Amino acid sequence: MATADQLKALVDSHSQRDEARFRAVAMQIAAHAAKQGKGKLAEELRAILDRASAQRELHVGPVSAVAIARPPRDLEGLLFASYPDTRLSEMVLEKDLEADLRAVVTEYRSRDKLRARDLAPRLRLLLVGPPGCGKTMTAAALAGECRLPLMVVQLHALMTKFMGETAAKLHAVFDAMAKTKGVYLFDEFDAIGSVRMAHNDVGEIRRVLNSFLQLIEVHHSDSIIVAASNLMPILDQALFRRFDAILEYHLPKPGMVRPLIENRLSTFDTTRLAWPKITPAAKGLSHADVVRAAEESAKEMVLKDQPSIRSEDLVRALEQRRRRPPPLRH
Ligand SMILES: Nc1ncnc2c1ncn2[C@@H]1O[C@H](COP(=O)(O)OP(=O)(O)O)[C@@H](O)[C@H]1O
Ligand SMILES: [Mg+2]
Repeated sequence: MATADQLKALVDSHSQRDEARFRAVAMQIAAHAAKQGKGKLAEELRAILDRASAQRELHVGPVSAVAIARPPRDLEGLLFASYPDTRLSEMVLEKDLEADLRAVVTEYRSRDKLRARDLAPRLRLLLVGPPGCGKTMTAAALAGECRLPLMVVQLHALMTKFMGETAAKLHAVFDAMAKTKGVYLFDEFDAIGSVRMAHNDVGEIRRVLNSFLQLIEVHHSDSIIVAASNLMPILDQALFRRFDAILEYHLPKPGMVRPLIENRLSTFDTTRLAWPKITPAAKGLSHADVVRAAEESAKEMVLKDQPSIRSEDLVRALEQRRRRPPPLRH
């Protein structure tokens, strides 16, 4: 029989959805059984694991997964699937925003209960805000919390590679949403705006936007739709009415700098960092910038064999990022 520790590890890895560890522990249990002369049990366990991994190639996860392991043929290059393990607790968010996101997760989980009383769960979200504040990460965290695959719709490819057949492709994406439950992220929604400049084909852009509006309006499925945009003004006002919630992202407040850095550096010693110096150095930076600066100072510590991260290195990394020109916008 498996030892108590093996059983605990097995249950734990299952609850963490750590597939690799689950398999490793299960193989250990099989090996343990073989050693104890229980060859038949060991064989059976290995056979179950082999069958499971063969099935996993066909059916990734709990939903029909043709579209996951490999998006339908006509959507190749347009839809990318992954299974993120991200959690909302890994994010540093404003209180209201976090409450809204947790409400989305709760409503998703209780969608049948809500629908039974003729109430609609909020499943169509528009995230708006400056780059690097966690919009893409939010989509991953929703997928992680709801145990759904994250399906990223490459809007830019839709607008460039498939010029002329965008409406048909968009239809196919919405069909996929109904067939394969997931978090569908239409990232960088303002790509629609950027293409306007690159191709100057206003007719095509209007068609895409109109198709999107019609499709999202009539769409009913268990999938969560997340559209994310950096640039507010470019978005068509008509879009806003089609979403169940519009969530605004902002640059981190001063009080969020410390938790952002501590979160990222949780495996390092941060007890002696001089926060009164560090926090102001992060003024005007995005979450992503703060996290990257924390990583840079940690690398510096490791490469220089220092015992802990130094406040001055962190301040310098933050200030360097503040001096950098803002990223190129469309
Ligand atoms: N609110 C946040 N909390 C914690 N980390 C964040 C947050 N926002 C951004 N990050 C970090 O910055 C990276 C890039 O953020 P991202 O979600 O791509 O921003 P956006 O989509 O808004 O441009 C993330 O992978 C994460 O490491
Ligand atoms: Mg993004």
